[in-house]
Amino acid sequence: MTRLDDKRVLITGAARGIGAATARAFAAAGAEVAVADLSEAEAQTLAREIGGLGLAMDVTDLDAIRAGVAQVEAEFGGIDVLVNNAGIFNMAPIEEITPEDYRRQYDVNVGGTLFTCQAVVPGMKARGGGAIINFASQAGRRGEPNIAVYCSTKAAVISITQSLALELAPDNIRVNAIAPGVVDTPMWEVVDGLFAKYENREVGEKKRLVGEAVPLGHMGRPEEIADPCVFLASDAARYITAQCLNVDGGNWMS
Ligand SMILES: NC(=O)c1ccc[n+]([C@@H]2O[C@H](COP(=O)([O-])OP(=O)(O)OC[C@H]3O[C@@H](n4cnc5c(N)ncnc54)[C@H](O)[C@@H]3O)[C@@H](O)[C@H]2O)c1
Repeated sequence: MTRLDDKRVLITGAARGIGAATARAFAAAGAEVAVADLSEAEAQTLAREIGGLGLAMDVTDLDAIRAGVAQVEAEFGGIDVLVNNAGIFNMAPIEEITPEDYRRQYDVNVGGTLFTCQAVVPGMKARGGGAIINFASQAGRRGEPNIAVYCSTKAAVISITQSLALELAPDNIRVNAIAPGVVDTPMWEVVDGLFAKYENREVGEKKRLVGEAVPLGHMGRPEEIADPCVFLASDAARYITAQCLNVDGGNWMS
């Protein structure tokens, strides 16, 4: 099993779903894990379970990002790995997209990723390197009807990953992304409800169909996304940067 002993890790949006599975996987691999999420109480519940640090950090709030990163650096002595997992989903036909929803999805998915990178990079540079893993999506690989905003935020995450990887390579900071396909998390309850509304389906139908359509035969389980994240953070991936790894049971090939 890949080991992450001595690695100090900050994971955003880590109280549930893929983020929580990732926090558990990093802790099991021997890392010190900071669980950051909107709710301090939920973050601390998971942190207690895995023996980590739980903190509130809204990734749309620059002051909260800076304070959260400073707290983790102070308590752990540094951050070696950042996992930008926090993300939100919405869908709407073009006529119904509101400026507020557009801004919210960009603030969380794109701004949250970019500015959390900005906050950790000085410390990584000072300590001689690090690894960043950003959460993209198969939705960032191609557009989908009624999902213009979310798909474009995830395409932006892939682009940011590539630019930062090239910019930070001289500082020994690797930057990669993971593109999950369809993963059975609380987010998919929201996604399924929106598909029911906009594609006139029964609740649960879209979720069943997308799971059946995966070449490996099932929706992703959060831990099936977490394990490749551990790999990308580890020294076993030391020659990998600027990549977006599809972790989707074969949905997308690139
Ligand atoms: N579930 C999927 O099928 C799927 C597919 C592709 C990509 N992804 C991406 O994977 C990541 C995790 O998805 P998930 O399914 O676990 O989602 P989820 O909704 O189940 O969990 C997301 C977590 O992010 C937190 N969060 C939301 N806004 C935040 C903010 N402003 N600041 C800090 N935390 C915030 C939530 O509180 C929650 O704990 C997201 O970036 C998502 O876009 C998910």
